[in-house]
Amino acid sequence: MEIWKWVFVGILCFAAFASTAGAVKLGRGQPTERISGSAGDVLEDDPVGRLKVFVYELPSKYNKKVLQKDPRCLTHMFAAEIFMHRFLLSSPVRTLNPEEADWFYTPVYTTCDLTPNGLPLPFKSPRMMRSAIQLISSNWPYWNRTEGADHFFVVPHDFAACFHYLEEKAIERGILHLLQRATLVQTFGQRNHVCLKEGSIIVPPYAPPQKMQAHFIPEKTPRSIFVYFRGLFYDVGNDPEGGYYARGARAAVWENFKDNPLFDISTDHPTTYYEDMQRAVFCLCPLGWAPWSPRLVEAVIFGCIPVIIADDIVLPFADAIPWEEIGVFVDEKDVPNLDTILTSIPPEVILRKQRLLANPSMKQAMLFPQPAQPGDAFHQVLNGLARKLPHEKTIYLRPGEKILNWTAGPVGDLKPW
Ligand SMILES: *[C@@H]1O[C@H](CO)[C@@H](O)[C@H](O)[C@H]1NC(C)=O
Ligand SMILES: *[C@@H]1O[C@H](CO)[C@@H](O)[C@H](O)[C@H]1NC(C)=O
Repeated sequence: MEIWKWVFVGILCFAAFASTAGAVKLGRGQPTERISGSAGDVLEDDPVGRLKVFVYELPSKYNKKVLQKDPRCLTHMFAAEIFMHRFLLSSPVRTLNPEEADWFYTPVYTTCDLTPNGLPLPFKSPRMMRSAIQLISSNWPYWNRTEGADHFFVVPHDFAACFHYLEEKAIERGILHLLQRATLVQTFGQRNHVCLKEGSIIVPPYAPPQKMQAHFIPEKTPRSIFVYFRGLFYDVGNDPEGGYYARGARAAVWENFKDNPLFDISTDHPTTYYEDMQRAVFCLCPLGWAPWSPRLVEAVIFGCIPVIIADDIVLPFADAIPWEEIGVFVDEKDVPNLDTILTSIPPEVILRKQRLLANPSMKQAMLFPQPAQPGDAFHQVLNGLARKLPHEKTIYLRPGEKILNWTAGPVGDLKPW
């Protein structure tokens, strides 16, 4: 192993490893860099005045009651569906007059049904969603006007509106038919996949901002770890062969680099996890079972260059965040060369990525803070919706025209919720 290279990079980059402490407090004079027309400009757009959102008032069994039954829903990685609702209720973009609304939002917490271990069970989600749509379409005239084309829904589950955690089953189900015309706000992003349709807004998974903030270490701490990763390499329980889980990429990381001194990788989740990320140059972000995880968010917050190993991934707010410039993309097939790929990146390129990562607007866009702050993920969703305006005239159906089929999909989904 060419250790010297790592030492070299380490020394050269020392100054700029002045990491990210205060990231969420944002900007304290550390060197940052902008890319004009992208990071900065678009991320700092103020959506207020550019769109108006009408929030349907639904019976509390679709949202508040579900949450009361299980407050853990507020902290799991899909919690954005709840926080987005709360944000919109007090947002200046909200309008109480549906006649002037550009977008309609239906607050339904379809992901808040957790197993004792905290994993969301999406089996009732299609019926719950269908029931909510039935309700809004019979009580207000706006759904029928476009059959949902000016409505958006937050569907943060693994495979979003396909509502299943097994990919095979998710693909078989496809996106819930009634949502075909709506705009979906989801964490799942993979090109050419039936569970991602055009026009969807990809958001980061929810990661608790205060929890991360509590672990900031002094800004000048040098980054003495070259590559860092904590997580599963094999899912022995579900995939003993190791070829299916993460499409084999994680297994390949382990087999090739478990004894490599440049790679600090393990399945143990240490209490210093967040601190370690602030001491690392590169943080691996490989695919897992769920297509995305808070790992990417953590890397950005802690200024660790994300190494994205997930072919065809569509990253959060990719129309506003210059991921190619910030991160390193490694094809799944190239994992065995990860050491060469990363040690060959010139120090000035590493420094530039670190400066871009230090840009506070980049970190802000990854978070759903309470209360909301300018430029955060809530605002990026609104910016995304605003950029789709004005709606094309063709979304409005002619009187009597129907496109959606209310009886399409698995028979089980048609049962009342
Ligand atoms: C919308 O259309 C459905 C039939 O597709 C109908 O049952 C419902 O009453 C309509 N809603 C309104 C508000 O007219
Ligand atoms: C609606 O979907 C059901 C179930 O797939 C199908 O049997 C029916 O023919 C469809 N109706 C229309 C009008 O296409």
